[in-house]
Amino acid sequence: MNQRVDYAELFGVAPLAPREFEQIRQLAYRTFGLDLKSGKEELVSARLRKLVREGAYHSFQDYYQGVVDDRTGKSLLAMIDALATNHTSFLREPDHFEFLRTQVVPELSRRDPVEIWCAACSTGEEVWTLGMVLTEAMPGRRIHINASDISNKALRSAQRAVYPVARCQGVPPAWMSRYFVPDALPASAYQVSPTLRALASFRRVNLVESCNWPQQFPVIFCRNVMIYFDSPTQEKVVAGLSAHLEPGGYLFVGHAESLARVSHSLEYVKPAVYRKPLKEGKWNK
Ligand SMILES: C[S@@+](CC[C@H](N)C(=O)[O-])C[C@H]1O[C@@H](n2cnc3c(N)ncnc32)[C@H](O)[C@@H]1O
Repeated sequence: MNQRVDYAELFGVAPLAPREFEQIRQLAYRTFGLDLKSGKEELVSARLRKLVREGAYHSFQDYYQGVVDDRTGKSLLAMIDALATNHTSFLREPDHFEFLRTQVVPELSRRDPVEIWCAACSTGEEVWTLGMVLTEAMPGRRIHINASDISNKALRSAQRAVYPVARCQGVPPAWMSRYFVPDALPASAYQVSPTLRALASFRRVNLVESCNWPQQFPVIFCRNVMIYFDSPTQEKVVAGLSAHLEPGGYLFVGHAESLARVSHSLEYVKPAVYRKPLKEGKWNK
């Protein structure tokens, strides 16, 4: 029997009504671009029920009102933390890192430091993968990864950089010994080494708003976040990312995120890799 369980109801909160779903959907869309399609009611109910209970609200309507009325913005941040999908892993979509190593790094041969942006970095696995790949590919050079996400919770995990053994499965053993230290003995979790951690800085950036980095980057990774946005939001986000790319710079998006239906000014390089056109036919290396 496939019976639908409403977890909020289970914990004494009235089930999420269609009107409440619509209010939360609109708030999430307005504030961070999340496109919650119809059919996501159960997901919203499951992800927000803890906040509803913790705030001692009797209904999702009360909870919604509480978020809107909270002038500190803390409730909204907690809602974003709860609704955002943080799934990620080390060396996810590995051909991107191979392309970076074999095609992009040689083009950056005269740069020192090399500074890139990892947007929507979630809990950090992508940031540390970039750190390892670039350290291996350009030994001795200064590398800096500007990492960002909208979720403070994800950013805290990324900065702490502690991962259970199971999450490190995809990392080659040689890199495990070079770039990780056991977090506890016997090792059930590992922490990224201080040297690798020193390559990254973290900040909260909502891609739907303007990002205000003072510089442009030769490489931006922004993967597996645009799938949660509708086309007008994707277009706006890609325009913001493009503005922060140097002419000739590369944008990596997730493989499920073709920009085919979005109007943009970038050149297609290969699946999920785009490049800002060069101004004078030459990259400022
Ligand atoms: C599925 S994770 C992707 C992580 C990583 N980039 C990867 O490909 O493995 C999506 C991340 O996007 C973040 N996110 C969602 N909406 C965002 C927004 N408007 N601005 C910035 N980050 C956002 C979420 O907090 C989450 O950490």
